[in-house]
Amino acid sequence: MTVHRRLLDRDPAYRQRREEIENLTLARKRARSRGRTGTTLVPVVVHVVHSNLSQNISAEQVASQIAVLNEDFAGRNADLISVPPVWRDALGNGRIVFDLADRDPSGAATTGITRTSTSTAAFGDDDAVKFAGAGGADAWPADRYLNMWVCHLHDLLGYAQFPGGPAQTDGVVIDYRAFGTIGTAEAPFHLGRSATHEVGHWLNLFHIWGDDGLGCAGTDHVDDTPNQAGPNTGVPGFPRVTCGNAPHGDMFVNFMDYVDDRSMVMFTVGQVERMHAALDAARPSFPVMAPQTDPPSGWVHTDLTLAAGAPDAAGKPVVAIQSDGKLSVLYLGVDHHIHALQAK
Ligand code: ARG
Ligand code: ZN
Ligand code: CA
Repeated sequence: MTVHRRLLDRDPAYRQRREEIENLTLARKRARSRGRTGTTLVPVVVHVVHSNLSQNISAEQVASQIAVLNEDFAGRNADLISVPPVWRDALGNGRIVFDLADRDPSGAATTGITRTSTSTAAFGDDDAVKFAGAGGADAWPADRYLNMWVCHLHDLLGYAQFPGGPAQTDGVVIDYRAFGTIGTAEAPFHLGRSATHEVGHWLNLFHIWGDDGLGCAGTDHVDDTPNQAGPNTGVPGFPRVTCGNAPHGDMFVNFMDYVDDRSMVMFTVGQVERMHAALDAARPSFPVMAPQTDPPSGWVHTDLTLAAGAPDAAGKPVVAIQSDGKLSVLYLGVDHHIHALQAK
């Protein structure tokens, strides 16, 4: 919220775009839109900015974070069983797939991880980590990648920029002790939920208590999250009643509360709709993928992008060709490559 208010104060273009994004989001809500129909693919680049060896986290630790994002944004995290039964119907499936980039902005092969040594011992929320000239690493184009910076943050687990802001600072920043589930990740923030929470903001979600301090007048602009006084912390017990929200109370199991990683386990249907509206309004270049099915046996599979060195595709073409009585299907894979299936 500090970053949000700073941008609102200093950047008239941000104020304008925020209004447009909220208008479209409201229109979608009134039309009872259920969001994007397919699965959205978000290529990710992780910028590891380190001032000592332990901050230079391993590729495995990065992968453990991507795995958590993919579970949390698909509503298939194992700890969903801890959702009190009264909220099971509200459970949303984000239908978003996160994939470490395999091409850098120039088209060269990449691991999706950049590594930068810095003399800055700890960063704050002033965005220095997002600029090579300020001891950090420059963003990759924000219309093609989700930028995640991992560094030592002095008093935050992480922070995000809402949609509608400048491309050079777009993305999320996470402390190296709150990133992924192995290596330097430290309890109680060792289950990758700081990134889930911040990516929620990156997709326009507000805190579930409505960012009004401890009052009951704030709103997160989502209808299926209960009105809640202030942030919850630690591991709350059910029910936790505030703002007259008895009998079920605060939805402290929501990713947009401030509880420990093991307590935050869900987005709601309304939050997913809001995220999808934000994708359409402000991040339309992240493609919706056609539903993926396993290749049927008796088909020959070719990765045409690898075979022919073709450029990455950015749309979602699915083409069926019939020739000599044989069916061929061309499709765009979640890996951004064009694939062909030909009947044997
Ligand atoms: N911006 C919040 C903070 O730095 C993130 C909270 C994430 N919570 C969590 N359990 N991982 O405090
Ligand atoms: Zn937050
Ligand atoms: Ca409130």
